[in-house]
Amino acid sequence: MGNRHQHDVLVIGSGAAGLSLALHLPFDCRVALLSKADLNQGSTYWAQGGMAAVLHNRDTVDSHVADTLAAGAGLCSLEAVEFTVGNSRRCVEWLVDQGVDFDLREDKGEREFHLTMEGGHSHRRIIHAADRTGRAISEVLTERATAAENIEIFTHRVAVDLVARDGRCQGAYILDQRSGLVDLFQARCVVLATGGASKAYLYTSNPDGASGDGIAMAWRAGCRVANMEYNQFHPTCLYHPRAKSFLVTEAIRGEGGKLLLPDGDRFMPRFDERAELAPRDVVARAIDHEMKRLGADCVFLDISHRSREFLQGHFPTVMERCAEFGIDIAAEPIPVVPAAHYTCGGIVVDTRGRTDLENLYAIGEASCTGLHGANRMASNSLLECIVYAESAAGHIAGSLARIPDADATPAWDESQVTDSDEDVVISHNWDELRRFMWDYVGIVRTNKRLQRALHRIELLQTEIAEYYGNYKVSNDLLELRNLAMVAELMIRCALSRKESRGLHYTLDYPETLPEARDTVLLPANSTLQPQADAQQA
Ligand code: FAD
Ligand code: SIN
Repeated sequence: MGNRHQHDVLVIGSGAAGLSLALHLPFDCRVALLSKADLNQGSTYWAQGGMAAVLHNRDTVDSHVADTLAAGAGLCSLEAVEFTVGNSRRCVEWLVDQGVDFDLREDKGEREFHLTMEGGHSHRRIIHAADRTGRAISEVLTERATAAENIEIFTHRVAVDLVARDGRCQGAYILDQRSGLVDLFQARCVVLATGGASKAYLYTSNPDGASGDGIAMAWRAGCRVANMEYNQFHPTCLYHPRAKSFLVTEAIRGEGGKLLLPDGDRFMPRFDERAELAPRDVVARAIDHEMKRLGADCVFLDISHRSREFLQGHFPTVMERCAEFGIDIAAEPIPVVPAAHYTCGGIVVDTRGRTDLENLYAIGEASCTGLHGANRMASNSLLECIVYAESAAGHIAGSLARIPDADATPAWDESQVTDSDEDVVISHNWDELRRFMWDYVGIVRTNKRLQRALHRIELLQTEIAEYYGNYKVSNDLLELRNLAMVAELMIRCALSRKESRGLHYTLDYPETLPEARDTVLLPANSTLQPQADAQQA
């Protein structure tokens, strides 16, 4: 039988969102912080380009807000955008206070942040630590959390499901990957900071583990999920048979990188006047179009006109990784393809990170705050993690005293299941799901392909449910179950959007409707009344 743990706050996830939230809680609050693998294995660690914030004296909050709204194609929540951008400078100051070393530059004898440029931004406003920004943030926050006496860290723990009673969340069942047992973690408040779901696609920039666990758990517990059709494809991931999931940062285009066809022709100006610095949906679709038109395996990103010294200073990670595959970015173009990168939709929350279930919060990529709308602007997501972590921590700190201890909850029951003797079912279904999501629910969609995907996912769900009911849980089984769940949510959202907007482009409805509406899905066990625009599962 598994162990029982009791804390004030259970934080599931140790990326920028989970770590920041834990560090913002008061020192007398007993916190459990969980990660599925080692602490630094979420997407945060791999973030390259940086974090958007209003820092330059010629930049303004209004301008950052306007750019975010434009990238989001009419679907952003103005409240969420103003809230996030309005807090950006303070959040950078907090990170600097924690010890994050962002790159500086000298200007007329003054030292100031070096700000880079990315698609959709009208100003240089991306603060960064070379092209290892996520790593810089992750390492500093991890060090702080490890040193904090009120934070107890549990690695290699996989949350299976939330414990919810009488409309309030009281903890979660957690698989200890080392003992193989499922423990019960009880808490007054639970925070889902579990990251995104881009592993639903065959090609992705995301590390293993981005299987949408938090989104699937919240949905099963009765929370609304929105805008799941909006999965962002990053235009430039390294194309090489041995390069698994390696991103070539957009900041390379910000510093003058040009996209070329295999014959050397520069094509982006034909698609958008902003050329390589158009928002990601435009660039990814243009690449997809050209690759399909020419039957090409990839296109090329050329930054070889910049000096070796400049590239070494700004893009050491990209330079090193490309060199491992024999590509010298100072001398030749980099082969690139689009890949699934960011889950814009997620668990519906307000500006405090509150979900539909009392005492359950969601922050970071797992949440849908309304900031990104139909397309996330580059480098707005780390910012969202930090802003909402602070806000949710403030709300939790103010509520804890009023929340009673968790009710008596039964331990995880595995009396009816046995050890699996057919793991091939998991690996086969895992591969099949990611392939049909890529082929049928990718950059360009049609009703027919989406219907096909829905049919396939329903069959897979039945098989997975049967497997789940008969065998002991493992990390692979849990991830597959969650991926299938979020894939279904993505397909259902995509099918219900009868227009093309932002990242969702369908040949059946190429026009954009005059009114922008979120796609809100309401689970059958939700206690909320269906709204006019919500769809009941
Ligand atoms: P993550 O950092 O993904 O962390 C998720 C955590 O949840 C992990 O600790 C994981 O172990 C844990 N977890 C998940 N499921 C479970 C479970 N079932 N049980 C227990 N624990 C669980 N954004 C920017 O703003 N700027 C950038 O430059 C940038 N570059 C990027 C480059 C790459 C290659 C990638 C992949 C993303 C990039 N992004 C960037 C996006 C950004 O990094 C992410 O959106 C952000 O880091 C997400 O942070 P998070 O804390 O929500 O989740
Ligand atoms: C990148 O560096 O290109 C990624 C930036 C982001 O995803 O925001």
